[in-house]
This record gives sequence, structure tokens and C-alpha cells, in this order.
Amino acid sequence: MNGFHYVGGELHVEGVALSTVAERHGTPCYVYSRELLTANYRAYERALAGMPSLVCYALKANSSLAVVDLFGRLGSGFDIVSEGELARVVAAGGDVRKVVFSGVGKSDREMEAALAAGVLCINVESASELGHLAAVASRLGVRAPVSFRVNPEVDPGTHPYIATGLRESKFGVAFAEAAALYRHAAALPSIEIRGIDMHIGSQLIDLAPIRDAATRVLALVDALAADGIHLGHVDVGGGIGIRYRDEVPPALDDYARMLRELFRGRRETLLVEPGRRLVGDAGVLLTRVRYLKRGTPRDFAIVDSAMNDLLRPSLYDAWHAIDPVRPRQGETRRYDVVGPVCESADFLGLDRALVLAEGDLLAIRGAGAYAMSMSSNYNSRPRACEVMVDGGDTLEIRRRETIADLYAQERRLR
Ligand code: LLP
Repeated sequence: MNGFHYVGGELHVEGVALSTVAERHGTPCYVYSRELLTANYRAYERALAGMPSLVCYALKANSSLAVVDLFGRLGSGFDIVSEGELARVVAAGGDVRKVVFSGVGKSDREMEAALAAGVLCINVESASELGHLAAVASRLGVRAPVSFRVNPEVDPGTHPYIATGLRESKFGVAFAEAAALYRHAAALPSIEIRGIDMHIGSQLIDLAPIRDAATRVLALVDALAADGIHLGHVDVGGGIGIRYRDEVPPALDDYARMLRELFRGRRETLLVEPGRRLVGDAGVLLTRVRYLKRGTPRDFAIVDSAMNDLLRPSLYDAWHAIDPVRPRQGETRRYDVVGPVCESADFLGLDRALVLAEGDLLAIRGAGAYAMSMSSNYNSRPRACEVMVDGGDTLEIRRRETIADLYAQERRLR
């Protein structure tokens, strides 16, 4: 399996030329491969084979119905963070009993929806949230399945905006307070304790912080057991990174080996919440060069996608490979690849060596994760369409927004 790769001088996926996708569906356009998504899921499954475990795909990375549908068919559970994501799982035919509900700010209404749907567990992140959940559950006459997300207070060594397990982070229950909270929760009639949860950050390249954090969490599990509180599962979160440029992310087999060692002789089911690793490299953002413009010190390639389609470079200084769909011969120039949005932060890649002509197609890699799901209509730009390549065919899984869509929810003054 080759991923997005060149055949006869043109970038293809699953035997389909990306220029064909552009002709059929226009640009900008997110292009995903069913085969690559499937292979990524299977790789997780294979790595964890033999361990009692459940993969809960973190929907926030890419919550498109077809993607959720595909993972559901493959047997995945889901990690959600809102009522909207819950609705997407249901609409995509996913198994709600395999859903874990994360997030620091769930509303009573969201808790109610999750309890009514029958999710596997709600990952509670504070004493106040527990109070609300207990009240909602008792009003509904049910017991809420609960797991506390604890903050293991380790440095994951990732971009500060996507580190979540530092002491100062808003996420999770402070490690020192977790045991007391479990004891308090165990005494509440409308709460049923299921497990424990952690997630230390995203785009993790080093396994050591995950091992340190999980070790702390497992020690807490043992301390709770000594107190008579027995947990059914341990959720070690997501966060395994991918290669955007020259990172060397952990092999899933090494990750699984580490987990096997940590879980040797234990009875709890292992849960993992991968997002990026399942979808990131299975998608590109296909875009066309509109104008080339001389600049100082570098030239500009002004393309038809922008920060509203892919926010990661602007928000995190993230680097995404930008490859010509049909590389041409000629003089390499250095370009800032930018969009039409009226912000200096609107760039997709800076200082890229490319041979370009106006009208050329470019593929921005790593756009399967946190691309469409973080998109916006800024500058009143309709959102791009999404296409799933599936065994030689292209299926538009989300139509391009129209201009009318942009203000369909709005009204003028009376
Ligand atoms: N579980 C929880 C509780 C999370 O908060 C996240 C991501 C995940 C799982 C999945 O993490 P992953 O396996 O995808 O790393 N927008 C940022 C990433 C934000 C991640 C937020 N939480 C980006 O584009 O890099």
C-alpha cells in the first residue's frame, strides 16, 4: 500500500489521478482514501491484538459522516467531545455503546443526551462536573457511567497549544485530588464508576511521557483497588504523532509493546483514543495555483485554499508538505504558498522550493486530520467539498458549500 504516490509523473491515490478528482469535484477539495483509512485502523487493531482493548476514534480529528461510518464498520468505538459529535456517531450508524465522552465543559443537556443514548462512559474532568452529572442522572432515574480524566502532570514535549497533561493545563482532575474524588463518587447513588482516563497531548513523538503518565495512572488504579474501588477500564488517550516533515513518530508496534508491558497481569480493558494517527496521512487538501506574484525576499504562490480550509500552519506554525500534482521541469523558485484570506497569517507553507505555473494543482499533505474539522467560513468563503476515493471511484462525501449556504441561518433587521 502506497499512500498518495506518483505514477507516470502524476500524484495518485488508489489508482486515481488527483487531476481527475479536481476535474470532477473542483478545488479546493479534501481528498481521502478509504484504503488508507482502513489500513490505519487495521494497523492499530493488529498492534493491540490479544489485549482486551477498544480503539475509540477521536472524532474531532475528522468528523465527516463517511469517515465515522467507515471506522464504525471496522468495529471502532469513538471519543467524542460534544452533543454534535454524538449526533454524528448516531447519524453514521456507529455503536453508541462504544462511545466515551470527553471534554472539560459538558453542558447538562449534553450529559442528558449521552445518558439517553447509552454511551460507554463519560470522562469527568472536575468535581463540579461530577455534581452536575449526578444530578442529571438522578433526574433521569439512571446511573451515569463515569471515568475520571486525571492529569498525570507530565510534559509531553509537544506544541504548547496541544499539550494537555501539564500541571497548568485546564484538562483533567489534579492528580493529587483524584483518589478523593473517586471515593466521593463511589458513594453517589446515581454514579457508576467504570474507569480512568488520561490524555497528555497530541502529535506525540516520544513514548516516554506516555509511559510515565500511564505508570502514574496505573499506580492510582491500584491504590483505588486497595480502597475497594475497582475499575473496569484504563483509557490512555490518543496523541500518537505522524510524520509531517522529518519527525520520527513511534511505530504502533513499539507503542503496543509498551502498553503490553504496562498492562501485563492486569484485568482492566485498555482504551485508546487515537485521532490524527488514524486519519492524518490518509487525506490531502487539493488546491490550485491562482496567481504567481513576485515578492521580496520570496515569491508568492496564491492558491485557492486558505487558512479557513487548513488552519494548522497559521495557528501552530505547523508544517505540511506541499507537492505538485504534476511536477514540472524548470527553474525552482522559493515560494510562500498563501491563500486569498485577508490576514498575513494566511499561509499554507512558507519558503517552499517549487517549480510552478499558474493553474497548477498542489496537494497539501497530512490534511486528513484537523483540516476540515477545524475549517471556518472566514472571509465568507464557502467550505470546500470532501471526496472519498474508494477503489478507483470518487465519492463526494460532503458537497461544496454554496454562497447561499453562507448566510442561510441569518436574517436582516426588522
Ligand atoms: N482524546 C482527547 C481527550 C483529546 O483531547 C484528543 C485531542 C484526542 C484524544 C486525539 O488526539 P490525537 O490522537 O488526534 O492526537 N488541532 C490540533 C490537535 C488538537 C488535539 C486535541 N485533542 C492539531 O491540529 O494539531
